[in-house]
Amino acid sequence: MAHTPRPTAILHRTPWIPPIAVSAEGSYIELESGQKLLDAIGGAAVTCIGSAHPVVNKALKDQIDRVSYVYNMQLSNEPAEELAALLTSSSNGAFESVGFASGGSEAMEGVIKLARQYFHETGQLQRTNFIARQLSFHGNTVATLSLAYHPARRAPYAAIMDDEHFHHVSPAYAKRFKRPEESEADYVERLRAELEAKFVELGPDTVIGFVAETVVGASTGVVPAPKGYFKAMKSVCEKYGALFILDEVMSGMGRMGTLHAWESFGDGVAPDIQAVAKGLGGGYASIGAVLMSKRIIDGLRGASGLWKHGHTYQGNPLSCAAALAVQKVIISENLLENCRIQGAYLEKLLTARLQGPNSPSAPFTFDIRGGGGFWGIEFDFDCPEAASLDFKGQKFAMLVQAHALEHGLVIMAMTGIANLEGTKGDVILLAPAYNITAEQTEKIVEMFGNSVDAVLHAHNI
Ligand SMILES: Cc1ncc(COP(=O)(O)O)c(C=O)c1O
Repeated sequence: MAHTPRPTAILHRTPWIPPIAVSAEGSYIELESGQKLLDAIGGAAVTCIGSAHPVVNKALKDQIDRVSYVYNMQLSNEPAEELAALLTSSSNGAFESVGFASGGSEAMEGVIKLARQYFHETGQLQRTNFIARQLSFHGNTVATLSLAYHPARRAPYAAIMDDEHFHHVSPAYAKRFKRPEESEADYVERLRAELEAKFVELGPDTVIGFVAETVVGASTGVVPAPKGYFKAMKSVCEKYGALFILDEVMSGMGRMGTLHAWESFGDGVAPDIQAVAKGLGGGYASIGAVLMSKRIIDGLRGASGLWKHGHTYQGNPLSCAAALAVQKVIISENLLENCRIQGAYLEKLLTARLQGPNSPSAPFTFDIRGGGGFWGIEFDFDCPEAASLDFKGQKFAMLVQAHALEHGLVIMAMTGIANLEGTKGDVILLAPAYNITAEQTEKIVEMFGNSVDAVLHAHNI
């Protein structure tokens, strides 16, 4: 069903005007036109238990009847306290305290400030530098865009990016950047040595911390690091007294099949500070959180004893009630196990459909990667078979995303992911809800495969 343009007073962030959703239940969304969509990406890896879960809806309604808002400079509230207690008690000792935010970018801003506050209060005022990675994404505010390095997203603002305090090393993206002669261990050692060299270049005692997405999401499209990478990077931080910081806004809170992505995809190495957001509130409310280790809390306790950072909606009772209910549903319905099971099934089906011997997409399906409920399918058109294709200047991933949406499947396309300049590469992201069924998993692969084939067929010359 083609979506027709309509008048709008919103300045949308897409070159097209998005259709209007009027209702949603589970993994399905209904549009104003009456069309029903299967959501294979949870918005942006957000709706981790689908929409309209009765337990969460009830918790929200109950909270509105109790306390809808208090300001955390004056009063705390029950769901915020309970949610913080759950986040610390479920971390196996990794985290001792929590600070709330309204989303991922705000959480990462909080992380940046908390890390600096820690050294400010522990008497290391000379620590002013952050090291993050190329082809990363940490949010859309000026500081988080400066911290990350995504060429297209920062391009219009390059002139106002802070290049003095934010520095970048190579991504950990073996499929694209590991040299053919290198083993995985050699590659990890090269990246470790590069980080250490950056510390030395900046002055090791000037570095606040190294910041990375445990599994890269919204820049290169679901890229887990090679085995041993996070252990090696943390060892450099420890050697020089800097903080090891993870951004799990997209990959955390169960998305990879474990509560924290570092438990399964980060060598089991806990960070000093971590940001979470999307899967925390599951889309029922705007919320993010900064998770703080004992090291941080001990440092602050010896000084101010508080987090010098706040926003009007920090610890909002409705957001916290929603997030608390989402987390309780994940636990009570054992959804992380289902997420892992369906994830493995999704990978098997995707591999057969896209890379099978008779699949038209096989020569162009460069990589199928991920885990749990987070998958990236990268396409590449450098092979000889691509000579018969002409996308007429359009990006393959964007064409597939548009075709899928028109035919009832929501997926997410990203381009410019395969080189440091951000000029090459097409990837599709899938992030179904943790409570997706096997039948829905099959439907996703069928509909997605059909869109890939249809776009290839339509551009065959
Ligand atoms: C790793 C990471 N950090 C931060 C953000 C920003 O989160 P938000 O869009 O909620 O501000 C995102 C969003 O995709 C993300 O993937």
